[in-house]
Amino acid sequence: MAADESTSTIKKRFDAIKLESTEENRRAYRELLFTAPGAQDYISGVIMYDETLRQKTEDGVPFPAYLSQHGMLPGIKVDMGAKPLAGFPGETITEGLDGLRERLAEYYKLGAKFAKWRAVIDIGSEIPSRYAIDANAEALARYATLCQEAGIVPIVEPEVLMDGAHTLERCEEVTNVVLDRVFSHLFAARVFLEGMILKPNMVVAGKKSAQKASPEQVAEATVRTLKRQVPAAVPGIAFLSGGQSPVEATLHLSLMNAAGPLPWALTFSYGRALQEDALNAWGGKSGGYSGGQKALLMRAKLNGLAATGAYKGTMETSAA
Ligand code: 13P
Repeated sequence: MAADESTSTIKKRFDAIKLESTEENRRAYRELLFTAPGAQDYISGVIMYDETLRQKTEDGVPFPAYLSQHGMLPGIKVDMGAKPLAGFPGETITEGLDGLRERLAEYYKLGAKFAKWRAVIDIGSEIPSRYAIDANAEALARYATLCQEAGIVPIVEPEVLMDGAHTLERCEEVTNVVLDRVFSHLFAARVFLEGMILKPNMVVAGKKSAQKASPEQVAEATVRTLKRQVPAAVPGIAFLSGGQSPVEATLHLSLMNAAGPLPWALTFSYGRALQEDALNAWGGKSGGYSGGQKALLMRAKLNGLAATGAYKGTMETSAA
């Protein structure tokens, strides 16, 4: 589960339920997610933000210790966000390499077992440029080697955004190039592929595209792309949801796993698609607490089934 929203991103999520983004409200919401009864049956790890990694349950147990005691690995987002790339209007470079070795050493002591770094590639008529793709791929590779040096498993996340009006074919073309460059830089930087997780986007049509792709087309194009670009040495691929609805993200994952066997475990590392129903059911109110936890559990369970290819759309109503 990705629960590593930065303070500005979680504020946007809280704005949608008209809840003020105070440190205590952020802590209480993360406690709701982490302590949902049965969560550990479907969620093997949680990515946190710096503030969250240092917070505690109401009973005073640090979140990393709570998660470890309940069979979920604590993880940490270590990038400092995507910033405008000088000279390349509309493109970004993810920052955060300066001082990363020291920060990783501290996160290790705080209990982090894995980390995440997100590179962002947008699609437009003249972008992405080869330079922006390479600069981001090189940063991902340098981050991943530093993680492995620190005894922390890196999640390597090159996200091709689904904003925009591009077709599925264009997303497939760009995702192929991005993954090709990412693995080239990972190899050059001596990253141990057996000790990392890839967190990619699925190959989808842009949100503003007039041409909608079917779930089967998304699954087929995504698996084709991953087979071309991701070495079998990589043990796991965990998708981001990227703005897909919870049901779409679950269905796509299940269709891909049903089309196996695949050389890697194919699973989920969703943020929005896992949390959306839970956040709405909670609504920031104590009366919505157990409803929020139940909503999270249901989404986690359905995605657990999708990770084996056993999810069916009809389960949405029967599980509710
Ligand atoms: P979404 O599933 O909401 O895209 O978030 C996953 C994530 O970790 C993005 O960096």
